[in-house]
Amino acid sequence: MTRLTINGKEFEVNAPAGMPLLWVIREQCKLTGTKFGCGISQCGACTVHLDGQPIRSCITPALSTEGKNITTIEGIAPNPDTLHVVQQAWIAEQTPQCGYCQSGQIMSAVALLDANPNPSDEEIDLAMSGNICRCGMYGRIKSAIKRASEALQSSTPNPIIP
Ligand code: FES
Ligand code: FES
Repeated sequence: MTRLTINGKEFEVNAPAGMPLLWVIREQCKLTGTKFGCGISQCGACTVHLDGQPIRSCITPALSTEGKNITTIEGIAPNPDTLHVVQQAWIAEQTPQCGYCQSGQIMSAVALLDANPNPSDEEIDLAMSGNICRCGMYGRIKSAIKRASEALQSSTPNPIIP
């Protein structure tokens, strides 16, 4: 058995060599917020954080993440009653269409703002360039990131209703 730390909790999983982290997260840990898109590191739908850095869980062997802190979309809210500031901004901007890509988009956005709370347009474009949205919601994704950035600058709660 392999022990993984996901969202601060320990999970004992069966992860043969080469099994992608995404499989383990979804099928064994039942954390299905992280999505399978392409499986070949091309779309970003499977993005999670490994020690705070965004990674593609579809190509990351689960075994290689033992002893590290994995964070999924289920683990970014500060508590059960409060969404992450990025999630609040996503709601305020009505960002998703079908929603399939959005977990990965949000995880990339959270990583960006953790590293750079006030990114320029170019920095947002660069950080988000690996996350594909078939619905083409790129404008709203960018607006939501800017809204979250403004909320972080002001350090006040971001209203859910704009
Ligand atoms: S499913 Fe991992 S990048 Fe597309
Ligand atoms: S909202 Fe549908 S793929 Fe992005």
